Amino acid sequence: IKKIGVFTSGGDAPGMNAAIRSVVRTCAYHNIECVGIYRGYEGLMEGDFEPMNARSVKGIINKGGTILKSARSQEFRTKEGREKAHQQLIKAEIDALVAVGGDGTFTGALIFNEEFDFPVMGIPGTIDNDIFGTTHTLGFDTAQNTVVDAIDKIRDTASSHNRLFFIEVMGRDVGHIALNVGIAGGAEEILIPEEDLGLDRLVESLKRSRKSGKTSSIVVVAEGDKIGKNIFELKDYVDENMEGYDVRVSVLGHMQRGGSPSCFDRVLASRMGVKAVESLLEGKSNYMVGLLKNKMELTPLDNAIKGKSKINLELLRVSDIMST
Ligand code: F6P
Repeated sequence: IKKIGVFTSGGDAPGMNAAIRSVVRTCAYHNIECVGIYRGYEGLMEGDFEPMNARSVKGIINKGGTILKSARSQEFRTKEGREKAHQQLIKAEIDALVAVGGDGTFTGALIFNEEFDFPVMGIPGTIDNDIFGTTHTLGFDTAQNTVVDAIDKIRDTASSHNRLFFIEVMGRDVGHIALNVGIAGGAEEILIPEEDLGLDRLVESLKRSRKSGKTSSIVVVAEGDKIGKNIFELKDYVDENMEGYDVRVSVLGHMQRGGSPSCFDRVLASRMGVKAVESLLEGKSNYMVGLLKNKMELTPLDNAIKGKSKINLELLRVSDIMST
């Protein structure tokens, strides 16, 4: 392998820039060329490439988003799209790819590898933390800290006005962010897709806590929660079924994806970039780099996509006890 291409794809996540920096600098360290590919699979199909050296990535370790930009591509899902991408890689003499993203990104990389036997290595970058084979994806830690900060601020209003706040956090199919920030932010209840609390139990629990003397409350709701109502319907339902609270909704949205990466995410990204490049140089392909028991480990891309990233049920119990 003489030249490696790196790209970011899917939803951006804090730490992606630190990962790009690490891939580029590890290539430089091993005296091989590195090419930045813009806009994920879109740029791959169009040949939107730029040679990068150690200096091209100066001053980005602390930056949120991704300097290579990101996209969710429909065309790459087609055989023609992937054929185009392959031609561009041949033209640019790129021998291997490092893909930074989530399960959609890895699915594309896996199919591409199967079709063209092209070496690929994945780095998990998504705030959702919904990837099997790593305890932490890039951006998860930063996003949690961002959300806890937001909850702390909303709590000021909740307690000043004796209000009940439903706060929606990201997590399309999983409750990792909700569960952790719920505990850290002192939430009364946490609603996640993995556990359906049920509307009645939710209202009962809120009534109980009201009776016990609480004058304000925070309920953290994962966006993928399966309670059967969206957060505004949920608010109306609770409004109608319990008295004594002024109820409000706050949907945090994309502010959760932005901002300077935490120390944890910067270190993780740096480690993952080194492991991804060095694994490719050792002739490995079709793996995702992950953090397991504080070691960099490789998981076959296929397992990373199909495996389930389980939530830690102990956390639910801790949350229940804390809201006593
Ligand atoms: O996968 C990361 C994520 O932020 C999810 O939590 C969220 O559901 C989704 O991306 C939002 O995607 P978009 O930015 O394309 O609206």
